[in-house]
Amino acid sequence: MPLPRLMKTEVLDSKNRAHLNRAVDLLRHDRLVALPTETVYGLAGNGLSAAAVKKIYEAKGRPSDNPLILHTDLAEKARHLFCFASAREQERFELLSKAFWPGPLTIVGTKSSLITREISAGLPTVAVRLPASLVTQNVLSLLDFPLAMPSANLSKRPSPTNGAEVLKTLEGRIDAVVMGEQSAIGLESSVVRIDLDEVYMLRPGAITPSSVGKILLEPVVFAQNSSSVAASPGCKHAHYVPNVRSIIWGDDTILAQSWRSNATILCRNKDQVNAAKELGSRPKTALTLALGDDPADFGRFLYSALYRAEEKAHESLIILPPKEETEAWKAALDRMRRAAGYQ
Ligand code: TXA
Ligand code: MG
Repeated sequence: MPLPRLMKTEVLDSKNRAHLNRAVDLLRHDRLVALPTETVYGLAGNGLSAAAVKKIYEAKGRPSDNPLILHTDLAEKARHLFCFASAREQERFELLSKAFWPGPLTIVGTKSSLITREISAGLPTVAVRLPASLVTQNVLSLLDFPLAMPSANLSKRPSPTNGAEVLKTLEGRIDAVVMGEQSAIGLESSVVRIDLDEVYMLRPGAITPSSVGKILLEPVVFAQNSSSVAASPGCKHAHYVPNVRSIIWGDDTILAQSWRSNATILCRNKDQVNAAKELGSRPKTALTLALGDDPADFGRFLYSALYRAEEKAHESLIILPPKEETEAWKAALDRMRRAAGYQ
């Protein structure tokens, strides 16, 4: 059942100075504003205000055991949000923030006393990221607090990669959205944990474990493969599910069977080209979402494709995963699996 609309959501233009000042003013008053980032759009609120953080959980319908990421515009500001428990933890932070910020890497480390229970869902750690979007950096530079920013979608729904997709699920539930550019990466940040003996990748993203390992000169373990360290709490909840009749995890046989049907098919360009060669054209009314052949392109368009599939809500959606399970495909594959209902 759709959640009720509670307020008018202001639509602000990222190129308009007065509009950005309005966003800053709203954030200073514990209100919620969706902002662009290079990964996905985020739902921003004052990360040090219990009232603003509570509103974020309410607007998204987010389970309270799923902690939020704090965002800053300077590594110096980020450092104050941690209280590193060892010299190695601090050294890892310095190396990673220098190598990957601004960018799609979230660092989880021992939290400082500034961090409230609400942000970290009671965990001893805090997650922090410095986003690359200049619009959002600009907003952050005018604030004297970090912004908590989960993806700007209702809980369980696909993450938004533009302002229009934010409005699809949050219109009437947040104070404003800043309409900026399409997110260039399109998948949420990689989440890396640095406070334990070993370094763990808690959520796959554009920055791979091997690129983190090269900077730290130590191995990085995927939490999903570890018996002792849990993946990010968010990874256990249902996610990215589009509103369609049913979602099917496809293979070549299912693709062949459904090619002439009206089902929506999400695949790589080369799968579409090969199937068309063998099986002819699809019905004119059928939607084929071919997202490119390279993992970066595929990731960039994945969430928009899930929202486009909703235009044919009465049809099934067949997701045809790439056959390669290389490190570069890991993040897109992870989100596709979750969209299809696998954990
Ligand atoms: O790219 C991103 O990270 C986007 C943009 C807006 O910055 N934000 C984002 O936030 O994806 P959200 O709330 O959708 O995902 C946050 C993830 C969740 O999986 C959460 O469990 C994890 O980060 N997380 C947050 N704090 C954590 C902590 N202390 N320990 C482990 N995982 C944590
Ligand atoms: Mg999210």
